[in-house]
Amino acid sequence: MNQKPEKNIVLIGFMGCGKSSVAAALGRNWKMDVIEMDQMISEQQGMSIPEIFDRFGEDYFRDLETALLKNLHGRRGCVVSCGGGVPLRKENVTEMKKIGQVVLLTATPETIYSRTAGSDDRPNLKNRKSPEAIAELLEQRRPKYEAAADCIIATDGRTVPEICEELMRNLAEQ
Ligand code: S3P
Repeated sequence: MNQKPEKNIVLIGFMGCGKSSVAAALGRNWKMDVIEMDQMISEQQGMSIPEIFDRFGEDYFRDLETALLKNLHGRRGCVVSCGGGVPLRKENVTEMKKIGQVVLLTATPETIYSRTAGSDDRPNLKNRKSPEAIAELLEQRRPKYEAAADCIIATDGRTVPEICEELMRNLAEQ
C-alpha cells in the first residue's frame, strides 16, 4: 500500500497537461481526497465553466478561484487539481504555497493540442485550435507556472502511473 504523503499536493499546469487524470490516480492509489477546482466551482455556481465565462466574464471566474483556494486552508491529505489559470494571480500562488507542495505538470503544445482538440469545454482554447496558437499562450504563462512550482514533471509520452511515481519520488526527496 502506498503511504499517504504528509503534505497536500497542489497540481498546476496548462490545460491538457493531465492534472485531473493525475489527481484521480493519486486519489485512488495514495488514498488522498481529490479537490477538482473547476468541478467545485461549477457545482457551487450551478453552471458549467463556459457558462460562467459567457455570463459573467473571466475576471469573475478568477475571483471564484481565489475564494475557493482561500477556503481550502486547513484541509489535510488532499490533492488539489487547479484550473490552468490559477497560478496567473500572485495572490493565488501565495495561497497555493500555504496549502501544500506545488507540482507543475508540463506538456508540449503538440501534446496539449492532441489532448484537447476534441472538446469545447475550455473557453480559453476556443480560438486556439492549433499547436502554434496554444504555444503562444503557453509561452505567455510559462514564467508564472515555473515561478509557482516546487517541482516540475514532464508528461509527454508517459502514462499516468509513471507520472505519479515520479511525482511522489520527487516530493519525497524535497
Ligand atoms: C483555464 C483552464 C481550465 C478552466 C478554465 C480556464 C485556463 O481548467 O479553469 O477553462 O485559463 O487555463 P483546466 O486547466 O483544468 O482545463
